[in-house]
Amino acid sequence: MNKLGIYIHIPFCERRCKYCDFTSSIFNQDRMKEYLDHLLLEIKNNEELLKNYLVDTIFIGGGTPSLLSVEDLRRLVDGLAGVINLDENNEFTIETNPNSISEEKLLAYRELGVNRISIGVQSFNDRLLRIISRLHTADEAREKIKLAKKYFDNLSLDFIFSLPTETISDVIASIDTASELGATHISLYSLILEEGTKLAALVERGVYRVNDQVTDRLIYRKATRHLESLGYKQYEISNFAKDGCYSRHNYKYWSMDEYLGLGMSAHSLIKNKRFFNASSFNEYFDDVKKNIYHDEENLSKEDKIAEYIIFKLRTNEGIIINEINRKYDINFEDIYKEELKKATDEKLLKKCDGRYFYTELGRDLANQVEILFV
Ligand SMILES: C[S@@+](CC[C@H](N)C(=O)[O-])C[C@H]1O[C@@H](n2cnc3c(N)ncnc32)[C@H](O)[C@@H]1O
Ligand code: SF4
Repeated sequence: MNKLGIYIHIPFCERRCKYCDFTSSIFNQDRMKEYLDHLLLEIKNNEELLKNYLVDTIFIGGGTPSLLSVEDLRRLVDGLAGVINLDENNEFTIETNPNSISEEKLLAYRELGVNRISIGVQSFNDRLLRIISRLHTADEAREKIKLAKKYFDNLSLDFIFSLPTETISDVIASIDTASELGATHISLYSLILEEGTKLAALVERGVYRVNDQVTDRLIYRKATRHLESLGYKQYEISNFAKDGCYSRHNYKYWSMDEYLGLGMSAHSLIKNKRFFNASSFNEYFDDVKKNIYHDEENLSKEDKIAEYIIFKLRTNEGIIINEINRKYDINFEDIYKEELKKATDEKLLKKCDGRYFYTELGRDLANQVEILFV
């Protein structure tokens, strides 16, 4: 049976962080109930498809899934369990915020089969947390992480660097604290100044400055080396894991493996099709009732190969020549002879042991490499 990853989106947050433009609105229990009803209907709609797959990763993301009450989460997980074949060796992640973690919820997560917890921290510096409008302090995050670690060995923490006024020492200090608290996985994202966010407006008005690309890349390189020195092996541009604790679910995205996305704005990749759900409640509710997707796109073989190259290059493994040849029945080095020559001549890609992967420079200039392959 083919393997499948499942992503479930929970589009609610207690407050919007100044930098964020993910699909999410302010938490409201009635709206959550209504949303859950439609999510469960969407799960049912997919019953036939799910019979053909063995689900080996589940990722409940957001927004803020830890805002789900224990009762609501149980309803969701039970609904899912009724229609999937779950691999015994599965990875089941829930994304959380320090504010909404509690011992009661952690116990329920474990009982419901969650075996990996991801906590959004962003920084352990109170000045920075205030600037980006997080609802927790560094101390509160520390306490909740300690609590979560009691229940979950596999603990991932999210950070953003290049926040306004943040120095390299602030980034290193946050990484050190994450390591001391026993994180097995760290995601370290460079701040994206998303159009329409409060932070973008503040930068526009000159209240804050953001790092130029050179400074951003310098911080990235230093932070990457620091993470490696603490035993966090980089396996993707923004992701680092100890002892092989990489995110199996996210790895599916970078390998173009099949996944089903459920909930508002979720994406799916099944065989040669990408499906998209709507990003507004009403449109999503209507589509689910009609059992249709908001949009879909048929991927040609060429589209799939181009996407595979771009995604897989994000990983440290890179493109394994034998693997891509087998997967798409092609001769990779023949088809992309000129592109590969240009990228290797310019020291953006390196070939070694039957693989092509980014050099440090290539990773900094990933956009330039991607353009070669589309
Ligand atoms: C979809 S969010 C959900 C996590 C959770 N709600 C939280 O904030 O704690 C996943 C992660 O994306 C990252 N992220 C969100 N917006 C970003 C931005 N504009 N630039 C860089 N990283 C961002 C943050 O690190 C965040 O923890
Ligand atoms: S970063 Fe997380 S908590 Fe903040 S608005 Fe985005 S999804 Fe919500």
